[in-house]
Amino acid sequence: MNYTHRRILLTVLLLISSGAKWSEGARVFTLVNECKTTIWPAITPGENFNGGGLALRSGQSVVFTAPVGWSGRIWGRTGCNFDQAGNGSCQTGACGTALKCSASGEPPATLAEFTLAAMDFYDVSLVDGFNLPITVMPVNGKGGNCSAAGCNTDLRNSCPTELAVMADGKTVACRSACDVFDTDQYCCRGVYGNPVTCQPTYYSKKFKQACPTAYSYAYDDPTSIFTCLEGDYIITFCAIGRKQTVCTYHNHRLVCSGSSGSASLIYKWLVLMLLCMVSLWSCV
Ligand SMILES: *[C@@H]1O[C@H](CO)[C@@H](O)[C@H](O)[C@H]1NC(C)=O
Ligand SMILES: *[C@@H]1O[C@H](CO)[C@@H](O)[C@H](O)[C@H]1NC(C)=O
Repeated sequence: MNYTHRRILLTVLLLISSGAKWSEGARVFTLVNECKTTIWPAITPGENFNGGGLALRSGQSVVFTAPVGWSGRIWGRTGCNFDQAGNGSCQTGACGTALKCSASGEPPATLAEFTLAAMDFYDVSLVDGFNLPITVMPVNGKGGNCSAAGCNTDLRNSCPTELAVMADGKTVACRSACDVFDTDQYCCRGVYGNPVTCQPTYYSKKFKQACPTAYSYAYDDPTSIFTCLEGDYIITFCAIGRKQTVCTYHNHRLVCSGSSGSASLIYKWLVLMLLCMVSLWSCV
């Protein structure tokens, strides 16, 4: 049984032994890599997340729990090379040379942002550019708008050439117009420093097309900020082509459109782990 499996088992045991009360004080984060290659997720602050960084192979997932009160960001790094000591470099998203991040990532990077509280707030932001598709899917939420945030298409394929970051003849990331042109209008500052004057631009509209439920510019709040009451989160990198589930809260029940493929994944794990336990730990 590897480390990832142990984490999942531990989480499931905690969930079962302490029941609903426990989830009021902590949230379970499942990070899933559906990209074709290894990625290196980064998390700050990272105390509850393997110290802030890890390698996640294609098809792998890992589970962490963070307490209410945690407020931070999660992003993916690509094209990394780390030595045994966890020192190295990445093509995108690097936080200096460390595998375990304590500093923010170098833009452009897609960011998933969370504030865990009585009512959680979360969003996916392209304000600092795009390097990987990220979807945040809440599960088991008890209120709030609790829907999938982020994108299920890859903006690297539709990035305007003037914003593209190239490596080995491929677009590896898409910079924000603010980062490239550094004007008040693109950066929503100066006379453009409020939601009335800072309106979508040609570039932010391209971002919004690719990721309709992500921040495409600084004041893109109404369609980009989500709330969820006592839910857990599945953060999927490269959930390409997946239908985005939209959930609403009706009559004390969360009702979601389309398939809840990600949600049922959790239950599959739960069932699998229960089976493991009744079969006298044969899988440990
Ligand atoms: C870490 O790696 C960088 C290159 O990526 C190198 O310049 C630096 O000296 C290394 N630091 C340590 C402490 O090994
Ligand atoms: C979710 O709810 C919050 C709080 O009511 C609201 O500000 C936000 O615009 C909603 N988000 C979406 C995407 O509808």
